[in-house]
Amino acid sequence: MTKLAPRPVLRDMAAADLRAVMTIERSAFDEPWPESAFSGLLARGDALHTVATAGKTGCVVGYSVTLVQGRLAQLANLAVAEGARRRGLGRRLAREAVAASALRGARRIFLEVREGNVPALTLYEELGFEALSVRPDYYSNPSEDAIVLARTTGPPRPHESS
Ligand SMILES: CC(C)(COP(=O)(O)OP(=O)(O)OC[C@H]1O[C@@H](n2cnc3c(N)ncnc32)[C@H](O)[C@@H]1OP(=O)(O)O)[C@@H](O)C(=O)NCCC(=O)NCCS
Repeated sequence: MTKLAPRPVLRDMAAADLRAVMTIERSAFDEPWPESAFSGLLARGDALHTVATAGKTGCVVGYSVTLVQGRLAQLANLAVAEGARRRGLGRRLAREAVAASALRGARRIFLEVREGNVPALTLYEELGFEALSVRPDYYSNPSEDAIVLARTTGPPRPHESS
């Protein structure tokens, strides 16, 4: 009988994960965060940082970083390794960010995304995020507008798929 590959596990990010996180970060973004941004956030009490690990070795295949301040959360970073995409991991990480923000008291969660980032926009819209505004030329390298999206952290809406 063929064994199914185990589902990736979500857990808190640790300092030991940063090397793997940075490898994904550099390949996923034109303007990657420096490692110091991740390590600084690991020390902050208002930041939620999650990694998805897969396989027997538990290698990091995705991560998210969310900042929670009072009733407002920001999904500040989310990426999945290229070889692990389109398997529902981005969706799981984003949902976890929403649920964990709610547990910390946030009522709304927002994020910014490049206007041309179709995979991310499709994912967030599927999860019930709605476009709020545009930040012209928010990104550089290349210059591009940001779309600001937000949703409540409440229960899933009817159009969210499982
Ligand atoms: C955006 C990203 C995190 C999605 O991760 P993922 O694990 O591939 O996403 P999922 O498999 O959970 O996809 C969930 C849904 O999002 C949408 N989606 C994901 N990738 C897509 C793509 N390339 N094209 C169109 N829709 C896409 C689909 O609706 C998909 O559902 P489906 O597979 O049932 O059709 C990933 O592409 C990534 O890391 N991109 C680079 C970093 C980035 O842009 N991060 C977001 C910054 S705001």
